[in-house]
Amino acid sequence: MKFFIDTANLDEIRTVAEMGLVDGVTTNPTLLAKEGRGFKQTIKEICAMVDGPVSAEVVSASSAEKMLEEAHTVASWHPNVVVKIPFGPEGVKVIRQLTKEGIRTNVTLMFSLTQAHIAAKAGGTFLSLFVGRVDDMATDGMEAVRDAVDMVHTYSFASEVLVASTRHPLHIVESLRAGAHIATVPFKTLELLYKHPLTDLGLGKFTDDWQKAGLNFD
Ligand code: E4P
Repeated sequence: MKFFIDTANLDEIRTVAEMGLVDGVTTNPTLLAKEGRGFKQTIKEICAMVDGPVSAEVVSASSAEKMLEEAHTVASWHPNVVVKIPFGPEGVKVIRQLTKEGIRTNVTLMFSLTQAHIAAKAGGTFLSLFVGRVDDMATDGMEAVRDAVDMVHTYSFASEVLVASTRHPLHIVESLRAGAHIATVPFKTLELLYKHPLTDLGLGKFTDDWQKAGLNFD
């Protein structure tokens, strides 16, 4: 399963890129607004750091015409830019057009199998299903992910299922079990994936025992 990092923070992206852990980046207007820097400049800097798909989102969701114009603008910034399109009737028109033009899309704000199916039929490259926001409503967000993975395989769609709105390591475990193609993960959650207290305890004991016995490499 590929890891995308879900952030627009350049320090976080640099850190995970150095760890060799990042296959791509997802941003959204909220994440960009937090950084207080320009959209184009941020996306271009991210593209210079990560050799993989970098999602940049359009904002005129009620007009296919305006969205298409924005899509062409962000796609022109770098070959690795993937245009993030909010799901909806207008968005689907745009996805279909961009697919014809060979421009990759990340279909965002999806919560159900029926939405994912429509996005796959339109040729969406990545199908972003949000899990955390559904869990917040005391409903199983991963259900749509499991169903979408089955759907993509059953009907041989080229689209990849991207688990978005991940909040904790259990979402990553469940994404792996579901056979999702990608999980986009916040920096703090990526860090947690390394941790296990038994790893720390075990390492402490190995080091102690080695030193007490006076062992070395000679
Ligand atoms: C990524 O593509 C999504 O925009 C992001 O994962 C949403 O996460 P949130 O629900 O934690 O805001």
